[in-house]
Amino acid sequence: MPLKVLILGANGFIGSALTEAIIDRTDWEAYGMDIADNKLGEVLGKPRFKFVEGDITINKEWIEYHVRKCDVIVPLVAIANPSQYVKDPLRVFELDFEANLTIVRLCAKYKKRLIFPSTSEVYGMCPDPVLDEQNSNLVYGPIHKQRWIYANSKQLLDRVIFAYGVRDNLDYTLFRPFNWIGPRLDDIHEAKEGSSRVFTQFLANVFHGLPIRLVDGGRQRRSFTYIDDAIEALLRIIANKDGCASQQIFNIGNPQSDVSVADLANAIVEGFRAIPEYAHLADTAKIETVAAETYYGQYYQDIQVRVPAIHQAAEKLGWKPSTDFNTAIRKTLQYHVRRGDFMPDASADNS
Ligand code: UGA
Repeated sequence: MPLKVLILGANGFIGSALTEAIIDRTDWEAYGMDIADNKLGEVLGKPRFKFVEGDITINKEWIEYHVRKCDVIVPLVAIANPSQYVKDPLRVFELDFEANLTIVRLCAKYKKRLIFPSTSEVYGMCPDPVLDEQNSNLVYGPIHKQRWIYANSKQLLDRVIFAYGVRDNLDYTLFRPFNWIGPRLDDIHEAKEGSSRVFTQFLANVFHGLPIRLVDGGRQRRSFTYIDDAIEALLRIIANKDGCASQQIFNIGNPQSDVSVADLANAIVEGFRAIPEYAHLADTAKIETVAAETYYGQYYQDIQVRVPAIHQAAEKLGWKPSTDFNTAIRKTLQYHVRRGDFMPDASADNS
């Protein structure tokens, strides 16, 4: 019998790439739910993929039925955008924590394998130069810095899942994305300032002729990780050969791509310059600086640096990233060029 994988949030950045990879590269069956299907493209018509448009907070019977029916559950529904953590922290708690807790409990009840997205943000402001799943402390700011509600929600779910593992032998894997980037991260046409993560925001700003704004000068560093590398790790986690991923936590990131946000801005501008029909956008691109409080408001607190230790993923999954930072940018730009997303009249629903 082929493995049955349930993906909640199948139309998201990770969900759509994972669904596509499962259908193209394995013999598994995928079942997906999302509130929209615009990122799923051709995979929607494939016989091994069954998709239902729905909301995990409403369609509870469908979800319970499919948790029972499937072998592996991947609940990817979450708000994962820092501007939302400070604008609507209670919605982050309700969706990222409460709605997902229900799914975690169903996995425990029906003894299903759970593959859960933790986050690089759980390490918060940990001072370790390299963040390690087993040894690094999780360090957050004061309560009025509402940014941390996301990291706290994810951290508590990590602890709940771990506790189900200890008490009930729940079979789980926690994976921690470190700034995964690539096509379909956020909508480049809808990327109003502050509504996207930095990678899409900068692409969109260059494309729309708006200045790139470096928060506090862009000295903050992130380990940007290309989505194809990340999906390869997820496929290995789902395959779980000889139980290699069971009850494990994995950082999934690219320590070789630890760059500053200012470096990212320059690399994106240079990426446009390398495409003859869009090189003019690089010539007119402007980069300026903005204070964090002006950009995000008083409830924000930034993370200065985060580099993943990836020895767990290397040893247990035999995984390491292979796409360097500039290649990740080039591939993403090529994807948008192929789709005509940078044409002046490209519409929002072309995303
Ligand atoms: C992200 C999000 O919390 C999640 O997507 C995820 O859990 C996690 O990190 C991850 O992907 O590993 P963060 O990296 O802080 O958090 O979010 P971005 O919006 O991508 O911002 C990165 C940096 O760019 C921040 O220092 C931010 O201040 C800066 N930035 C952002 C700018 O300088 N200019 C902008 O226009 C936007």
